[in-house]
Amino acid sequence: MKENVGLFVKIYCNSSSLTSSKGSLWVKGLGFRVMHAVQYDSYGGGTSGLQHTEVPIPSPKTDEFYLLGGIYFFESYLGWLVGLLPLADGTIGTALDVAGEIVKVGKGVERFKAGDKVVAVLSFLIGGGLAEYAVASQRLTASRPPEVLAAEGAGLPSCGLTAHQAVTQAAGIKLDKTGQLKNVLITGATGGIGHYAVQLAKLGNTHVTATCGARNIEIVKSLGADEVLDYKTPDGAALKSPSGLKYDIVIHCAPTTIPWSIFEPNLSENGKVINLTPGLFAYISYVVKILTFSKKKLVPFFVNPKGDNLDSLVKLMKEGKLKTVIDSKHPLSKAEDAWAKGIDGPCTGKIIVEQ
Ligand SMILES: NC(=O)c1ccc[n+]([C@@H]2O[C@H](COP(=O)([O-])OP(=O)(O)OC[C@H]3O[C@@H](n4cnc5c(N)ncnc54)[C@H](OP(=O)(O)O)[C@@H]3O)[C@@H](O)[C@H]2O)c1
Repeated sequence: MKENVGLFVKIYCNSSSLTSSKGSLWVKGLGFRVMHAVQYDSYGGGTSGLQHTEVPIPSPKTDEFYLLGGIYFFESYLGWLVGLLPLADGTIGTALDVAGEIVKVGKGVERFKAGDKVVAVLSFLIGGGLAEYAVASQRLTASRPPEVLAAEGAGLPSCGLTAHQAVTQAAGIKLDKTGQLKNVLITGATGGIGHYAVQLAKLGNTHVTATCGARNIEIVKSLGADEVLDYKTPDGAALKSPSGLKYDIVIHCAPTTIPWSIFEPNLSENGKVINLTPGLFAYISYVVKILTFSKKKLVPFFVNPKGDNLDSLVKLMKEGKLKTVIDSKHPLSKAEDAWAKGIDGPCTGKIIVEQ
């Protein structure tokens, strides 16, 4: 087992029962390695429920490797903040998206080796990103070239993949500009997903209108949006295009429910709303529109993370076509500050936790 690997190693906590070997910790007398991690001991604890703790360093199984974590990202969506299942000891892992350096690979890992720098999505069942080491599957990992900074790469996985699939698959936008011109509305353009969605949509043959708060209008323009609406103004709340366009596609990323009666008058004849935050009403509406042969559609959307999509995103970032807007960076020792900002805001782009 390789020790002291990587640039990001830093010791954050110690207790009387632990001695440090730079980055990882040994339990005196017990002989197994433990690491610093930030976890919950039950669901629903909010920021105050987070605990700094020491846990055994996880072992990779076939098809997995473990990473020396360096920089972690999380977003303010609860399902992505915590693992869906408790760990064997009853604790709950936090954060899914990581950038780091591979320390050790399990049998069956062929695409990667120790020392490779990567970005990865961890298992959504157990999370585990807010820790010194994390186990990732090679299936949901991409190599990170030197042109892609770790913090930028760490922002990509969940939000980038969601934006990529919403733009390319659900909206059918071709990123080489070969498709027909589409008028696109992207709500929540300063969110983790929305800010990638604006940049990706603009790689296609599109006119993009985006909504965000007043403080972020210039940022969203700098991401490429052709027109920007402040969602707190009457026109912004009504999603009205400043130049009177009707939208062929709406990618609804804002973390809020917008009723169909607001979307409908802004859609072109065959306009489609891709709803990333679908509630019960969205599903009912989806079925009703199919049954009534409505040309305008409301489509609930959920990401299906895929490694090759992650490779494409990293490549776009390497080529300078995609960037991560970083809201703020926090040390692992203050992960709760990052957590509070993610939950309570204000937040523009990604919050990064680093060692
Ligand atoms: N379907 C899927 O597969 C999938 C996957 C992951 C996440 N999600 C969901 O997608 C949504 C977006 O996630 P995210 O991580 O991008 O969210 P986020 O980062 O929490 O978004 C926060 C941003 O949205 C802006 N905002 C809030 N209300 C808005 C509104 N009504 N109109 C325009 N902008 C608004 C905020 O601006 P201000 O600070 O100025 O208010 C802030 O910049 C969440 O509801 C999440 O649960 C879906």
